[in-house]
Amino acid sequence: KIYEEKDHGSAYVAQRLADLIISKQKIGAPAVLGLATGATPKGVYKELIRLHKDEGLSFRNVFTFNLDEYYPMLPTNEMSYATFMKKHLFEHIDIPAENTNIVDGSLSHHDIDNHCNLYEKKISDLGGIDIQLLGIGRSGHIGFNEPGSTANSVTRLVTLCDTTRKDAISDFDGLENVPVQAITMGVKTILDAKEIILIAWGNKKSDIMQKTLGEISAEVPASYLLTHPNVEIILDQDSASLC
Ligand code: GLP
Repeated sequence: KIYEEKDHGSAYVAQRLADLIISKQKIGAPAVLGLATGATPKGVYKELIRLHKDEGLSFRNVFTFNLDEYYPMLPTNEMSYATFMKKHLFEHIDIPAENTNIVDGSLSHHDIDNHCNLYEKKISDLGGIDIQLLGIGRSGHIGFNEPGSTANSVTRLVTLCDTTRKDAISDFDGLENVPVQAITMGVKTILDAKEIILIAWGNKKSDIMQKTLGEISAEVPASYLLTHPNVEIILDQDSASLC
């Protein structure tokens, strides 16, 4: 779907999430959302907050699993994705804190594998992710699954590629401050979601969107989405300009 105004695209995605939440409430079931960080989904979160404040949308039956977190990173650090999610969504809605899940970037190396396995288990114990929201990195990453990630990868510690670290320079005030590693849901974790919504805005995403919609390859991990039966891709005219 190509939108002239990214606000309209964000409002559409927020409404899709709200519809899921309401339909699950009607049957007394949890709604399980996979969430993303970065500039891209901010408009969706803004609209969800509006729906909560103006239209009484409740998040009490919602469980969330975020895609990724930098490593090493304290959850309380200003730059953590844990802080991002609080600031841009969780502290403005009525979601119970214990329903929100983000991998922990503050663990020692030796505890990471176990933590990642538990994260996967928590998702499957809740019946899997109903809708997974995704942005895309200019490297073709989804979550932090960089080029070379395999289709059967699960939640794990990864090394960030140069393009990704360079794109984070402005956030971290210098390349030397950008973490070298991250913990991310795997490609398989993402593809196991019942529904996926990928969003990309602006010119700087046009090249990678063209590649994503080309051949399926580990060099462009987002292209694995083409193997999923229920994916929606939300673009503006700039990000769609080469598609
Ligand atoms: C980050 C995140 C991704 C995100 C991507 C794009 O590194 N790990 O989940 O989709 O990069 O970021 P932005 O939305 O700011 O362009």
